[in-house]
Amino acid sequence: MTPVTSRPGSGQRALVTGASGGIGVDLAECYARDGYDLILTARSEEALESVAARLSGSFGVKAAVIANDLGAIGGGKKLADEIAKRGLSVDVLVNNAGFGHAGALTTAPLATSLGMIDLNVRALVELTHIHWDDILKRGRGGVLNVASTAAFQPGPLMAIYYASKAFVLSFSEALWEEARGTGVRVSCLCPGPTASGFRERAGTGNTNITKAAPVMPSMPVAEEGYRGWQRNKRVVVTGTRNRVGAELVRFLPRAAVLRLVRNIQSPRKD
Ligand SMILES: NC(=O)c1ccc[n+]([C@@H]2O[C@H](COP(=O)([O-])OP(=O)(O)OC[C@H]3O[C@@H](n4cnc5c(N)ncnc54)[C@H](OP(=O)(O)O)[C@@H]3O)[C@@H](O)[C@H]2O)c1
Repeated sequence: MTPVTSRPGSGQRALVTGASGGIGVDLAECYARDGYDLILTARSEEALESVAARLSGSFGVKAAVIANDLGAIGGGKKLADEIAKRGLSVDVLVNNAGFGHAGALTTAPLATSLGMIDLNVRALVELTHIHWDDILKRGRGGVLNVASTAAFQPGPLMAIYYASKAFVLSFSEALWEEARGTGVRVSCLCPGPTASGFRERAGTGNTNITKAAPVMPSMPVAEEGYRGWQRNKRVVVTGTRNRVGAELVRFLPRAAVLRLVRNIQSPRKD
């Protein structure tokens, strides 16, 4: 293990949302490897406790666990109040918690669609708003927001999810500019399909997306995101194929892109 005092994150703390499974666990590990103490949050307390025990044991960092529903209105404020009550501060905010739902607009109950906006957008803005001024004042640390390659175009048959991630990308890029010259780093991580619990919750397992893009393991996705954030890279698209796709989409006619995405999000026939 690298001596604790010489690591880049020594004396700093990262708050990671959605840290009970998937990409969030691996993002938390990336920060822990570099000596950041952690605040891990999600709804599943037991899973968070086991991640905290593993990471603090392996990397010699402190890891606090706060179980909280960020999809509930005011969930961000509740989390921030608990962080303050414990006398902890946040140097890096990793807004990773999110979920999707595949299908035509009304195949999901309205509550599911609004819940997606509440978690993917509302809570992300709420947490960023709460912690932003303190992060700026310190002139270090920053924000790593997790969007998706879905952010680069509208998503027929997964419309709300794509739109929510377009918001995250736009919001993150704007903050990157607002933070320019302050020492604060802002990155937007845009993964393509990644092995995690996402697909099961979203119901994308039987759509053509499983044929269209290879599924990356979550650790390389997290590592690319973390390395990008360290360099204050504005947008980090994981994997060569996803990077090419995100670039290409800007040059194609929008109607063609919409048809293509509709096809990708359609149920598999084979
Ligand atoms: N996997 C992919 O293919 C993929 C691709 C592009 C982008 N992404 C994005 O990557 C991020 C992480 O997703 P993942 O792939 O790691 O999926 P995941 O395995 O389903 O993990 C989602 C995390 O978010 C937490 N979460 C869900 N609802 C929550 C709520 N109401 N309050 C607090 N925490 C909540 C979950 O924990 P609890 O259930 O314990 O609350 C879990 O820790 C998401 O923003 C997702 O949109 C994923």
